Amino acid sequence: MSTRAPVARIIGTGMAVPECVATNALLSRCMSTSDEWITQRTGIRERRVSPDTYQMLLRLAEAPDKMACMREIRERGLDGRIDSTLTVTDLALEASRMALKNAGLGAEDIDCIVQSSTLPDFAYPAPGCVLEGRLGLTTTPVFNLAQGCAGFVYGLALADQLMRGGMYRRTLVVGAELLSSAFDYTDVGRDMAVLFADGAGAVVLETVERQDASRPRGLISHHLHSDGSALEALSGELWGSSTFPPVSKKKIDDGRSRPRMNGRAVFVNAVRRVREVVQESLDANGLRALDVDRYIFHQANIRIIEAVTEHFGIPGERCFNNIDRYGNTAAASVPICLHEALAAGRIKAGDLVMLVAFGTGFSWGATLLRW
Ligand code: ACO
Repeated sequence: MSTRAPVARIIGTGMAVPECVATNALLSRCMSTSDEWITQRTGIRERRVSPDTYQMLLRLAEAPDKMACMREIRERGLDGRIDSTLTVTDLALEASRMALKNAGLGAEDIDCIVQSSTLPDFAYPAPGCVLEGRLGLTTTPVFNLAQGCAGFVYGLALADQLMRGGMYRRTLVVGAELLSSAFDYTDVGRDMAVLFADGAGAVVLETVERQDASRPRGLISHHLHSDGSALEALSGELWGSSTFPPVSKKKIDDGRSRPRMNGRAVFVNAVRRVREVVQESLDANGLRALDVDRYIFHQANIRIIEAVTEHFGIPGERCFNNIDRYGNTAAASVPICLHEALAAGRIKAGDLVMLVAFGTGFSWGATLLRW
């Protein structure tokens, strides 16, 4: 890496989560699960969900026949209403505005937007374009990624390369997810429904000339991978072209509009790949695990994080976790953690920080940066 090359630095972070809190106790009234099962296996105590999901959960909790209640909502919406009261773009917009404000910039100062979302608000255009319009922009280029839980780390890598190449000076990178509306909150979908939740995180990157070549502050290196041979372990057909027509009553009746997961396969692969990519990042930068001041892992399952940190001998205080409060917010999880870690004073100027994520695809990656 040239010591004269410009470096992209994060100059503002932001986050947004819905106000509605779905506790393990509430989920236990909708499906056969318990606070103990969820907490012990995942570390999640509560998560934020859209007002529509929350209303559905309250209704399911009271319903004597949960399956019939869920089926009716799938067929008729909530009391015949199918327009969402909160969309993925609403969350992306709030997080972006906060990141811009913290950077001391307006939307018009941004040269480019990179967004990753698993479940868009529209099949097309992709959500980054919807966000751009809501920010009042009309000519700013937008890159839309759909890299699942690894989406934010992929987005950072893409933005960094565009900026190092001199194409853009300021980029907004967003990970935003509204996932809760896709799950079945009865026994049928309990394996996934307890894990995932809604939220958004955003950062503003700015190109700076390197001040001190030995300790450059900013993004240092990115390490990305995918394994498309394993897609069945974590997939969702939803309205995709894997069925004809993409949306049908039969698709819903056959359960093919529901996300699918082989939890054990995801768990095993996540631990293996996260270990590999952390090692790759350390090796590429001539570092040992304890040279990194703060690790921010994708918040999928606290046991995945513990398996990785035990392997490297990373003490718990070197990590920042918030899975107990937010669950798995996929592409939003790393930027939300980053924002909260900064707000809590857990990242200081000059700290080496590693961001690591793994998810559907499978896709995974790590970014090393100096704050
Ligand atoms: N409540 C109660 N029981 C449940 C629930 C639930 N919510 N979900 C599944 N079960 C049952 C299953 O039906 C199964 O029952 P059976 O043995 O009678 O068939 C049993 O619990 C499974 O138990 P375990 O195998 O002991 O569960 P495990 O320890 O594997 O934990 C879990 C399951 C939490 C899904 C785990 O495999 C996991 O976290 N995997 C990773 C999944 C993940 O992180 N996905 C996120 C997307 S990718 C990413 O972000 C990394």
